[in-house]
Parts: sequence; structure tokens; C-alpha cells
Amino acid sequence: MITFTSVSKTYSDGTEALKSLNFHVKEGEFFVLIGPSGCGKTTTMKLINRLIEPTQGEIYFKGQEIHTYPIHELRWNIGYVLQRIALFPHMTVAENIAVVPEMRRWEKARIREQVDRLLERVGMDPVTYRHRKPAELSGGQQQRVGVARALAGDPDLILMDEPFSALDPISRERLQLDIQNLQREIRKTVVFVTHDMDEAMALGDRVCLMRKGRIIQLDTPQRLIQHPEDDFVRTFIGDRKMPWQTAIDVMVDANSPWIVMEGERKETDGPLFVRGERGEFLGCLENGILKKEVPVLPNHSPLHEALQIFRENGVERMPVVREDKLVGVLSYRSIVDYLERVERQKGMTR
Ligand SMILES: Nc1ncnc2c1ncn2[C@@H]1O[C@H](COP(=O)(O)OP(=O)(O)O)[C@@H](O)[C@H]1O
Ligand SMILES: [Mg+2]
Repeated sequence: MITFTSVSKTYSDGTEALKSLNFHVKEGEFFVLIGPSGCGKTTTMKLINRLIEPTQGEIYFKGQEIHTYPIHELRWNIGYVLQRIALFPHMTVAENIAVVPEMRRWEKARIREQVDRLLERVGMDPVTYRHRKPAELSGGQQQRVGVARALAGDPDLILMDEPFSALDPISRERLQLDIQNLQREIRKTVVFVTHDMDEAMALGDRVCLMRKGRIIQLDTPQRLIQHPEDDFVRTFIGDRKMPWQTAIDVMVDANSPWIVMEGERKETDGPLFVRGERGEFLGCLENGILKKEVPVLPNHSPLHEALQIFRENGVERMPVVREDKLVGVLSYRSIVDYLERVERQKGMTR
């Protein structure tokens, strides 16, 4: 959906904001940019919809260099949500949301339908809110309207630059959940900027960690935790609360010695988990006997729930499944080790 090839940006005062950035955002992906203040996140976003121009390198949107698009077409096709949404104060909520559809000259009825549908999508009752002015909304509601507005022209891509950072923790958490559900539902490509690791881990399919205008590591949340590239990543990862941690974050993945393919033999002193041809979980093999009715952990089980399930079943290891697929193995020991390590890290950063 978006490709950066060796993109650098030096501002006119000589500030090197980006230094030869290379990355690719896949279609339908929730892509998170994270890093300390000043690392170049906002610069990256502004480059995508041509609010600023790169000093070097090319940026591609849907396979075409961004300068090959008429600028309006590019902007209409990219929704942008900012940290503090600037809604037009004299316009109603409905009018604010309808800005891009109006510019695209949609029919009135279609616009009205779109406005109501989006208000519902972002959790606001259209009848109650469509005629209100921005000043009659809370901060969280204004951000919701901002999200609806960014989606209104049916863009292929949505850029969100710290959209929740000005909100209180409760509105923030609620909006995070809503955005996550919304994105799953409509499967739009999202590039989301935050400096909050919890938010990044909760939302991102992949997380791109930046520092001083460079990419330090671009990986899935799970890989960032299990294989941090250096101390900077480790510190950044360690520096957070952890309510979102799930079985899949801590498990041994597909290469686990405890996994065998159907029909395969292996010498071990414990039960093995058997994977079928399509990756499906078939059961647990112990002393040559395949047991099908065994406890499994869904990949999204929070760690405290996983611990509970381990205790109830009195087992040492459990298969982690996503739908019917065997994606890895989690041991009781690894959860305990993990929690100890997090505690230690917390102690060090205090
Ligand atoms: N218009 C500008 N002129 C000069 N320097 C700028 C300008 N905008 C941003 N910068 C600098 O570029 C660097 C990256 O900024 P930015 O992309 O806003 O970072 P982030 O969003 O990650 O906090 C910072 O050092 C910032 O001070
Ligand atoms: Mg910024």
C-alpha cells in the first residue's frame, strides 16, 4: 500500500529528520510507528500525503509514486487524523464529517447515509449528535468525529498521528478498542503513530520502532518482545505496563521441539503436539497414543488466564491455537520466567 525507498528529509534549517528510510506497509495492515519525541514520526506521515516533500528517495502509494497522482486525489484517498482534531467550529458534526464527500460531489442522499453510518461506527448516535456543533462535544467525542471525518470519503489509507494522546485514560482505552474493532471490520490500511508502547502492542499488526530518523526494528509485537534487536528496543519494550500480554507473546513458536507433523516420530520424554497438513491441531501424542481431547490455549488468552488454565489442568505445556491452527507451545515455566523478568525490569527502570 505504501513503500518508502531510501527516503530522507532534511528541513531548511538543516535538521535531518529522516535518514534513508525503507519500509513497506501491506494492504489491510495496522502499521504502528513508534519512537521517542522528535524521532521523525510526524515527518513520515506528512510525507505520505505530501504536506511536505522528501529531500531524497521515493514514496509509492498503491504501486505508483505519489507525485503521479493529482494532489487532491491523493489527499481524498488518504484520511488523516491528528492529535488534536481541528473540527470547523461553525459547522455541525454532520457537515464536518461530510467535507470530503462534498468535495467529491457525492449525491446528498449518499452523503447523509454515509454520515449516519460513520457516526454509528464510531459509537455516536446520529440522531443525538448530527446537528451539534463541535463545542457541544467532549474531547473524546470530538476525536470520534475526527475519525469519522477521516473515513468519510472511503479512503484506502488512514493516517493517525497520536490521535488519542490528548485524552483521559478511560476515553483513550475505549477509543483504542473501538478503532481496533473498526479496523478489523472495514480492513482499511492504517498507519498509526504513538509514543505509547502499550498502545502500539495492542493495536499493531507490525510495529516500526524509530530513533533519530532511522528505523531500529520493524516487527510484529511478538517478535519485538522475543527478539529485541538491541538494548534500545529492550528498554523501550520493557518500559510499560502489561495488561495486553497474551499466550502468543510468550510461547515458543512453530519451531518448538514439542511439535511434530502428523506421522512424524521424535524421541522425547514428554508429550508432543501433533500438527496436520493444513497446520491444524490434531492432538497430543504420548507413549505412541494420540489423545484428541486435551486442553488448549487460544492465542489471545491473557497470561493470568493461561496460568489459571495450567493450574486447573496440572500440565507442564500446552498447545497455543489460533482458530483450529497449532501456532506454538507455551510452558508454565516460561510464563513464570517471563513475569519474573518483567518484574526485574520494572525494578531497574524505577
Ligand atoms: N518544520 C520543521 N523545521 C525544522 N525542523 C523540524 C520541522 N518539523 C520537525 N522538525 C524536526 O524534525 C525532527 C523530527 O520531528 P517530528 O517528525 O515532528 O518528530 P516526532 O513526530 O517523532 O516527534 C525533530 O528534530 C523536529 O524538531
Ligand atoms: Mg509527532
